[in-house]
Amino acid sequence: MTQTPADDPTRDLIRYCPQFAPFLVHRARGSFIYDEADRAILDFTSGQMCAILGHNHPAMLDAMRKAMDRSIHLFSGMLSPPVVELAAALRDLLPPPLGRSLFVSTGAESNEAALRLAKLYTGQFEVVGFLTSWHGLTTGAAAVTYSAGRRGYGPSVPGSMALPPPSCYHCPIAHCSTACDMTCLEVGFDSLDRQSVGSFAAIIAEPILSAGGVVELPPGYLARLRDKARERGMLLILDEAQTGMGRTGDTFAFEHDGVVPDILTLSKTLGAGLPLAATITTDAIEQRCHERGYLFYTSHVSDPLPAQVGLAVLEVVTRDRLAARARERGAQLRAGLAALQERHECIGDVRGRGLLLGLELVSDRRSRTPANRLGAQVTARCLELGLHLNVVQLPGSASVFRIAPPLTVTPDQIDAALEILDRALGECVAANDWRE
Ligand SMILES: Cc1ncc(COP(=O)(O)O)c(C=O)c1O
Repeated sequence: MTQTPADDPTRDLIRYCPQFAPFLVHRARGSFIYDEADRAILDFTSGQMCAILGHNHPAMLDAMRKAMDRSIHLFSGMLSPPVVELAAALRDLLPPPLGRSLFVSTGAESNEAALRLAKLYTGQFEVVGFLTSWHGLTTGAAAVTYSAGRRGYGPSVPGSMALPPPSCYHCPIAHCSTACDMTCLEVGFDSLDRQSVGSFAAIIAEPILSAGGVVELPPGYLARLRDKARERGMLLILDEAQTGMGRTGDTFAFEHDGVVPDILTLSKTLGAGLPLAATITTDAIEQRCHERGYLFYTSHVSDPLPAQVGLAVLEVVTRDRLAARARERGAQLRAGLAALQERHECIGDVRGRGLLLGLELVSDRRSRTPANRLGAQVTARCLELGLHLNVVQLPGSASVFRIAPPLTVTPDQIDAALEILDRALGECVAANDWRE
């Protein structure tokens, strides 16, 4: 048995991830988190990709106070004004025919609710996700999460299938290298059609595969995916956990592609740090599912406190034109990252949209071999220098910084982050202890 020292703050916790940050966070405000010594650290992951308004935004605090004066939590079959108002606000914001919402707590739950709608509506059970997807770790969502966490947990849900992601930097069918021509989609569907037992229910997709290394769907891909879904009687579920609410430069990333899904899930950015998620569909789908006895009951479904916060988040995103700000600040950040790429040979690619950007580290630009050790070293050095970044490492295929500051980030904070990253890259490469 491993003994944990008495002063180890993790000794009473289950280690649910490989490693915790090496300090406790004592407070968080705006674009910064602060350690025990009140050292400010720029938070370029927006918490867990949620805090689009920055940490502890006054409008969210006011909303919480309002809810605390009225009601925080209710019997799951009871509705309250904030829930009804949030559903109405989302209908106003979204293109028709989307307009019927269900409010739960996490992204995984919102996808479970979506998958149950799709299965009940179609009467079928096969669900397709991308091979580098992340939709959450509850059973149904985890069954179509292929980027991590699959080994060691026993059988997955029957009918779960995977489609190769359209990543031309690491083409899954070794076909493209500079621009995706969507051969992977054709090959992928040919393979799905052969595997199917004739019970296709849904395709679930992120408009930008975030845990999959910040891979944008190429122009026209989503429309073709929707058409292929339609031809097979499947519903298209778009998971905008990370991309929704302005992060990519549009209020919702699907607007960029001009494709309206049958079911949309929102989570992380909808509550901007509070546990709030939504599953949104059309009146027709809702009607048929209701007639068939749709059930999605959780302890915190339709809770008033997170809904009140969601209303505040929507108001700030619209009032402060945060989608436009994501475009502007995103352009600044991207230009800065591109300049770093010119100076640092280890930066193989810079990609993404708005303020969801990816920077891929390679040990060799030609072979695009991932520089995983370097990724870990640069992350640690950035943290010492006052910048929190997250690097996703896909076994054998990529080592990518997911750069996603709050949408309220200032130009100076972006410059400061770029300076730290530049210095950390230079120092770690010069130390020459990073080749695998
Ligand atoms: C695209 C996407 N969907 C769903 C989830 C799961 O959300 P949660 O962790 O809130 O269950 C995540 C989490 O990272 C995600 O990135």
